[in-house]
Amino acid sequence: MEKTALEVKNLAVAYGTKKVVEQVSLKFPAHQITALIGASGSGKSTVLRSLNRMNDDLATVTGEINFHGIDINQPKANVYRVRQQIGMVFQQPTPFPLSIYENVIYGLRLAGEKDRQVLDARVEESLRQAALWNEVKDQLNSSALALSGGQQQRLCIARTLAVRPEIILMDEPTSALDPVSTSQIEDTLVQLKEQLTIIMVTHNMQQASRSADWTAFMHQGHLVEFNKTAEIFMNPQEQQTADYLSGKFG
Ligand SMILES: Nc1ncnc2c1ncn2[C@@H]1O[C@H](COP(=O)(O)OP(=O)(O)OP(=O)(O)O)[C@@H](O)[C@H]1O
Ligand SMILES: [Mg+2]
Repeated sequence: MEKTALEVKNLAVAYGTKKVVEQVSLKFPAHQITALIGASGSGKSTVLRSLNRMNDDLATVTGEINFHGIDINQPKANVYRVRQQIGMVFQQPTPFPLSIYENVIYGLRLAGEKDRQVLDARVEESLRQAALWNEVKDQLNSSALALSGGQQQRLCIARTLAVRPEIILMDEPTSALDPVSTSQIEDTLVQLKEQLTIIMVTHNMQQASRSADWTAFMHQGHLVEFNKTAEIFMNPQEQQTADYLSGKFG
């Protein structure tokens, strides 16, 4: 049995009175990449944002999200800590108008870290993990906005990693990038599995089959099927999954 990093039980999400996600239950395996796939509007981003309380101001989220034996969906959970342990990388690279160095340590500064040696070490560690160190090590004080889109996205990954999360959530992290940057990021993710758990929304079926160990297929707010990626693609158990993968909808 593989360890579970995060267990979702009976998750439901409504925007106002509009229910968009219902009855989603699954266990995200630790140190694995899980892809969330499904047609536009099927609820992938809604589920992803619920996992670290990013829907708090937007939606009503019910159900359990168990992380180390604690239901982090309870109102009393420490949202700041949840987001430090479960980080998020968005679709569009979102560097701050600061130096590369300051971007990486942004979260550590917020946490009050001032020790220069700690900060320097964490910058190098995080940029290496994001496979960006070699490209930027001589320009750490230059503006992050001067980097290419692919570099900016790897910088955002480094910024998320710098607070040492256990899980990272990624919403179509490469959809704004060219094929070379995409494959660099996919390689990075595979290496990161040793340290953490990755949950990624993707519209790119090749990306899911190349990088994800597990795949969850969503349709109209429901989880239709969750299994090893090879099983989902080669031997789907549900007709809706087979139809989606063969391009009948979506
Ligand atoms: N902030 C919001 N307010 C109201 N409705 C929303 C909001 N965000 C999403 N929705 C609705 O919730 C449903 C699921 O949207 P969601 O963004 O989760 O889908 P998705 O699977 O991520 O789609 P895509 O592949 O296009 O990103 C859709 O019907 C969408 O219109
Ligand atoms: Mg989405």
